[in-house]
Order: sequence, then structure tokens, then C-alpha cells
Amino acid sequence: MESLKGLILSGGKGTRLRPITHTSAKQLVPVANKPVLFYGIEAMAEAGIEEVGIIIAPETGPEIEQAAGDGSRFGVRITYIVQDEPLGLAHAVLTAEDFLGEHPFVMYLGDNLLQGGIADLVAAFREHSPDALILLTPVPDPENFGVAELAPAPPGEVGRVVRLVEKPSEPATDLALVGVYMFTSHIHAAARAIQPSPRGELEITDAIQHVVDSGLRVEPHIVRGWWKDTGRLEDMLEANRLILDNLVGSQEGELIDSRVDGRVAIAAGARLERTTVRGPAVIGAGAQLKDCYIGPYTAIGEGCTVSDAEVEHSILLAGSSVCDLDGRMESSLLGRNVTVRRGERQPKAYRFMVGDNSDISIL
Ligand code: TTP
Repeated sequence: MESLKGLILSGGKGTRLRPITHTSAKQLVPVANKPVLFYGIEAMAEAGIEEVGIIIAPETGPEIEQAAGDGSRFGVRITYIVQDEPLGLAHAVLTAEDFLGEHPFVMYLGDNLLQGGIADLVAAFREHSPDALILLTPVPDPENFGVAELAPAPPGEVGRVVRLVEKPSEPATDLALVGVYMFTSHIHAAARAIQPSPRGELEITDAIQHVVDSGLRVEPHIVRGWWKDTGRLEDMLEANRLILDNLVGSQEGELIDSRVDGRVAIAAGARLERTTVRGPAVIGAGAQLKDCYIGPYTAIGEGCTVSDAEVEHSILLAGSSVCDLDGRMESSLLGRNVTVRRGERQPKAYRFMVGDNSDISIL
């Protein structure tokens, strides 16, 4: 078999995470202070993949290239592939055809997180050599996902994939497609054969259905750990929670009259003064925290300032500041260089999703 390549999809519009994604790529929004995209690249490296193509959009591509570079720090070689318009996941595959050639490949949606990486599905792919392998997970609301129907199989076994339906109104199963797929070069002909869907995209579900209808073997792989599509605020916060649940504490910053409970990672150059942090939480490099309380499941980005405030279950992107709040800020996502400060009257709690470079004074 030709060596396995990786394809990470980091184009798209990111409309669901606006306003954060008006100014930057959603795949670079950090989870536990690390861009979502990096988890995907690391998963590829761990699975022994050396060549990774990253699909980028003309608008946000340069920022992604700058962040991930040539891949050497992850132990992979990255090739950037510009997709002029986000015309669908199958269109992204066609855009990458020159890079992929005849190689089998893992396709990974750049805003997705998969616990435990991809090493075991790469192993399953190598062992069974199917024509395609798709990852599935049971969900309570299959009508919001691509859903797979499987052939009947003897007890203890899983049948092959017979049908895929995008967001069905009456789902036949609760098995949702996870944003990670393994393909052989058969997918190229399938992506060329299909027509755009009513929303104008070349859907990967249609391309996989075409592979099934051509009599080829599409195998399911049920994921055991959690999987998150970080496309919306709630998902972003939950992904942050899930990653922080496995955080290993470390302390490089400086603590002055401060207290740290539980697992907290404090990066170099951070300075905490008269501050309590209850983990799991991460404090980015150079962050300045003074007279505040940082509650569980919070990620304070690089160079943030928090003073006279309580922040919990929130993500603050680099350079933001929160000052002088009476109540507690919770379940919030602040873009880069956002300022939130107190006015006269104070509610008991605040909840924000604020784009980059904003300035909020509460009156
Ligand atoms: P989606 O979340 O399905 O699409 P989107 O990025 O346009 O987001 P939204 O729904 O908020 O507008 O995309 C999944 C991943 O695939 C994401 O990382 C973007 C990427 N993508 C491409 O690279 N090319 C494409 O044509 C599409 C549709 C998505």
C-alpha cells in the first residue's frame, strides 16, 4: 500500500462562531490555550503520518500558515492547498487531488477534536483494507448530523455502511459521522461524479454514498472516546472542559500572595498577585492576574490582564483584559484584545461572546 497521507480541512467560513471568526480562522481558536488545529496535526504525527496537506481559504490561510509553519515542530511536512471557495468537503478533496495522488489518506476537519487521536483507526484501516472507513459515534440528536445506516451483522460484529443521510428528519440510527475519515483514491472519482447539494456544496456524505453504491466496501469504526466539533460557542467551551479534564499541572509563572488549587498550568512570564486559581485551568505566558479569582475550566490566553474580577468556565483569547467586575464572568468566550470593564451598576453574573478588538464598559 502507498504511504498514508493526511488532509486537514481548515478553509470554510466559520459563520457559526462569529463574531470571533470575522477576524480570524476558527481553527486557530484555542482550546486549553492551544489552537484546535494543532490537536489534529498532532494526532496525524502520533499515527506516523509524515505528509500533511492543509486546505486553507484565501482570507484566513496566511494566518494558518504562519501559526503551523512547515510542520517541523510537529514532526510532519505540511503542504498548504488553497481552496478558492468553500464549496464543500468533497470539493476540498478534489482541490487536494494533486497533493494526494493515489495515496490513501486520513481526512480530518480542522475544527474537530477526537479524544485518543487516530492511531487505532489507522490500525483498523491497515488491518482490514476497506475502500473507505468512516468514524461514527452515537448522539442524542442525530437529526443534526450526517447519519449512517449499517447492514445487519451477527451479534458482536458491526455491519458495513449501506447508507448515509445528511441531517435526516427521521434518522434511521443514532450513529453520527465524526469529522474524521479514511479514504483510498476511489473517493476522487466519487467526488467528481456527484452534484452539489441544495445548499450548493459537494457533500462528503454524497461522495461516500457513491463509493458504497459502486459496490465498494465502506467500513464503520465506532469511536470510544469523546468527539467534539468546535463550530459553536457551547461546543468550544465543552471542548475546553474536556481537554482541561486531562490537564497536567505545571508552574512556571510567578505567584505572589496567591493560591492555586487543583491542576493548573501557569506558563512562563505569567504573574499572579493576591489571586486564587481553582483548577483545572490554564494561564498563558505573560498573563497578569491581580486580586482575582479564576474558577475551574478557564483558559486565560497569552498576555491577558485580569484584575479585581472573577472568571469561571471561560476562554479569554490573547491580549484580552477583564477589570473591576462585581459579579462573576462565566461561560464566556472573549476574542483577542477585548477589554471588559466595570461601569456603575452591576449584575451578579455576566456571559459574553465577544469578537476581537472590542471594548465593553458595563453601564
Ligand atoms: P463546516 O463547519 O461544515 O463549515 P464552515 O467552516 O463553513 O462553518 P460554518 O458552518 O460555521 O459556516 O466545516 C468543517 C471544517 O471543514 C472546517 O474546519 C472548515 C472546513 N471546510 C473547508 O476546508 N472547505 C469547505 O469547503 C468547507 C465547507 C469546510
